Order: sequence, then C-alpha cells, then structure tokens
Amino acid sequence: MGFALPPLLHVIGGKTVASADGATLPVIDPSTEQVIGHVAHGGGGEIAAAVAAAEAARLGPWRELAPVARGKLLFRLADLVTRDLEALAWLEACNVGKPISAARGDIGGVAETLRYNAGAADKVEGAVIPLGDGVVDYTRLEPLGVTAHIVPWNYPLGMVARSLGPALAAGCTAVIKPAEQSPLSVLHFMALVAEAGFPPGVVNVVCGDGPGAGAPLVAHPLVRGVAFTGSVEAGRAVGIAAAAGMKPAVLELGGKNAMIVAADADLDRVIDDAMMGGFENAGQVCSSSSRLLVARAVADEVAERLAARAAALRVGPALDDPDLGPVVSAGQYAKVMGYLAEARHSGARLLTGGGRPGGLARGYFAAATVFDRVDAASRIACEEVFGPLVTVTAYDTDAEALAMANSVSTGLVAGVYTRDLQRAFAMVAGLETGSVWVNGWYLGGTQAPTGGIKDSGIGRERGMIAVRNFLRIKNVAIRL
Ligand code: NAI
Ligand code: MG
Repeated sequence: MGFALPPLLHVIGGKTVASADGATLPVIDPSTEQVIGHVAHGGGGEIAAAVAAAEAARLGPWRELAPVARGKLLFRLADLVTRDLEALAWLEACNVGKPISAARGDIGGVAETLRYNAGAADKVEGAVIPLGDGVVDYTRLEPLGVTAHIVPWNYPLGMVARSLGPALAAGCTAVIKPAEQSPLSVLHFMALVAEAGFPPGVVNVVCGDGPGAGAPLVAHPLVRGVAFTGSVEAGRAVGIAAAAGMKPAVLELGGKNAMIVAADADLDRVIDDAMMGGFENAGQVCSSSSRLLVARAVADEVAERLAARAAALRVGPALDDPDLGPVVSAGQYAKVMGYLAEARHSGARLLTGGGRPGGLARGYFAAATVFDRVDAASRIACEEVFGPLVTVTAYDTDAEALAMANSVSTGLVAGVYTRDLQRAFAMVAGLETGSVWVNGWYLGGTQAPTGGIKDSGIGRERGMIAVRNFLRIKNVAIRL
C-alpha cells in the first residue's frame, strides 16, 4: 500500500502556490521520525492573498447559488471523500501516527459530517415576526462572509469538516489553516473540493504555524467569523483577537474529563469504555476519559482490570495497524514524557506503562499508562496531558465525586456510570461540562451539539446549531 503525496503547497483561489519567500516546513512521520516531505510555510502575505480570494469568491458566482445547489456540491464532496477514503486514511496514518483502521474510521466520519451539512443547506429558515397589520417584519439569515478555520493535528480532516461543512452550508467562504504538523490530508481534500465543482476561492488553505499564519488570519479585517480548535492558551489568544475585531468565534479547547464510576456500575462496560476513552488516538482527544473517579468499593478492581488490558495493547507504527500508535510529534512526546516522569514521583501508584514502551527504536511512542491512588489535586489529575495516560482516584460519596469532577479549570465532557437513574440525573444536573454521557463514552455524533464551558471554550459545534455559527441575522421591516 502507498499513495502519492498531494502537492505540498498552499491552495489559494483554486491554484497551488508556494510561499513568496520559498519557506517550507518539514512533514514528519511520527511512527518513524522520518521527514516525508516539505510543505510550504505561509505568513501574512499568503493569508492576505487567501482572504482576498475568499472575499472575491463570496461576491462571485457562489453568492448566486441556491442553498439546495450548495447542498448538492457538499453531497458530491462527501462522495469523493468516500471514493478516496483509503488515500486520505493513509495520509493521516503517515502524518499523525493514527493506526490505519482508526484513520479509515475518521475519514468515514468526515464524509458523514459533510453529508449532514449538505442536507442542512436548504433547511435554514428565518422568522416572520407579528408587529401588527401594516408592517411585515421578517429575518434573513445571511452568511457571515469569509470565515477562518484553524484546526489541530489530532483529527486533521475531521476537524476541518466539523466547521467547514456548516460554513459552506451557510453560504460562507473559507480559509483553512491546518496544524503545522498535519497538512497532508487537507491538501489532498482540496483536490476533491475542486473536483466537486466548488468555485475557485470558496475554500482556501494556507499552511503555516499559529503565530505566523493563524494570528494574521484571525486579525484580517475581511474575516467575519472564526472557528478554532486547539489548546486553551492559543484559543484564549484567538478569542481576544476575534473580540477586538468584533468577530464571533467558536472555541473548542479541550478538557480533563471525568469518568465517574459508581459502585453499582456495569464494570465490564466501564473497562471497555475506559480503554477506548483513554487510549484511542493515543489519548490525544479533547474529550478523552483521562480521569477516572471511582467509588472506593470498586476502585482497585477497576484500576487493576484497566491496567491489565492496557498492558496487552499492541503498540507500533501506524501502518502496522496497532492498537496504539505514536503521539504526533517530538514536542508532544516530550510533553507526555514530562508528565509521566512527574507522576512517577507524585506518590501515585504506577500500574502499567509510565514511559517509552520496549522494542521500538524510533518513533514518538508512549506506553499506555495507568496510575491509581492519584491525588485529585495533582497536576496529572488536573491538566490535559493529551497522551495515553489515565489516572484513577477513589471517592466516597456522590457529592465528593461531583466536587472532584468540577474542580478543574476545563469543562468539556463528563461521564457517569451507574444503574441508579436517580444518581444519574443528579450527576447530569451537577456536572459543569458542555456534555454529559451516561453509561457510554464518545456518545453523540455529527448530529448532536458539542463544546465546552469554563476554559474548554465558547460555542457549540455539530448539529444544526453549527450552521447558525456561520449566519448573521438581518431583520427586515416593511411598512405596507
Ligand atoms: P495549539 O493550540 O498551539 O495548535 C492548534 C492550532 O492552533 C494549530 O493550527 C496552530 O497552528 C494554531 N495556533 C496556535 N497558536 C495560534 C495563535 N496564536 N493564533 C492562531 N492560531 C494559533 O496546540 P499544540 O501546541 O499543537 O498542542 C498543545 C496542547 O494543546 C496539547 O498537548 C493539548 O493539550 C492541546 N490540544 C487540544 C486540542 C483539542 O482538540 N482541543 C487539539 C490540539 C492540542
Ligand atoms: Mg501551541
């Protein structure tokens, strides 16, 4: 197996272009640490050109397309993603270390998200407001205009689809700034955007880093809306810059998500879900179940069963289709190893993992790790690690579990495992998060809103509400 790399260039106004100064960044395969290409490294000049192309497209034939026609283009794009699923999955496996089966699943999700939004394009309805005889008052929901899409590396094309789908359904145009680590799949995708028949300039990509390309994109005066997914730190900077320009921004900034396990829970399900929630994508998921809070009566059993399963995971290069691939980059590897080293000296009990797995000479591999008897106030229990690390902390009362769950600065998702309906409803009401999952993990989907509170961000993505993110209301009053 093996596919061609796409042109490693920006896509501006339908053309592939290098940076004006010729700058490039290496693209690295985290399974091997090999440089697999060099991608154009853009800055303010490339951003200005891309925004100008998106503004011209907004004022061109794109504006004339009926909503149903925009939907048809999105359906066609979804079909092309499905056609090229193997190539796109291979690119993400090579670029971010995703086990190839998982990468296939992710690209399937991209097509599903595009289809959902394709169907939404012609279902955006305004309101007629009764002001009495003599006046007709109604609202028009108009596209914001040029929108910025700044995405991270953990789901490179998935995160693009999550905001680009609704933006296009709403009639906006777009400039995408992929993460500097992971440009490959979105550059292949751009060929599909053209093949589907989107007018040139409706979707543009500028490759580059956060300060050099992301920041000028957010600040550009013709950019009217921002969708950002990434770290709290960068998200805060993006939110402040967007506010300065009076632009709505949807910020999805990760979390430290509690999986609360009551003594009456179905422990087989708990272990299955904690494996998926803790170790899928090597734990590099904003809504991972990185923090288990377990009723004391079953805490040791849960921790030990989880550790036994974690120890049996096959770790290896993404194209070997392991259970656990590498983390994305040298930087992320250093961050994860730093937390693991600190945790080993924190008084917590290391049950499995704790460092680099044996037998792998190269690649950014971290072993699936479980610590139990973790102090709920310690850094590994409060800060997002974004690696294959699960902490287990015992609790005595439901009130204590809730207090621990809510004690962190983020509030993305939380989960509750119990057979007691009363307890489940009380926890749902008490948890300070944007989503709560009961007796399941990674529930929800492209149809249901997702997003955080507190430091996890502002706004919601997915579902019909995501289309509204890219629309503004114009009220029209007509005297008869
Ligand atoms: P990051 O937040 O720096 O990068 C995410 C995206 O934001 C990238 O496209 C980057 O180029 C861009 N960016 C960075 N600074 C920017 C700025 N000032 N203006 C505009 N765009 C900017 O994330 P990083 O440094 O790659 O990862 C650090 C940590 O962030 C991870 O360890 C993890 O804890 C968290 N993270 C959370 C994600 C999530 O899904 N919520 C995704 C990626 C990282
Ligand atoms: Mg960063």
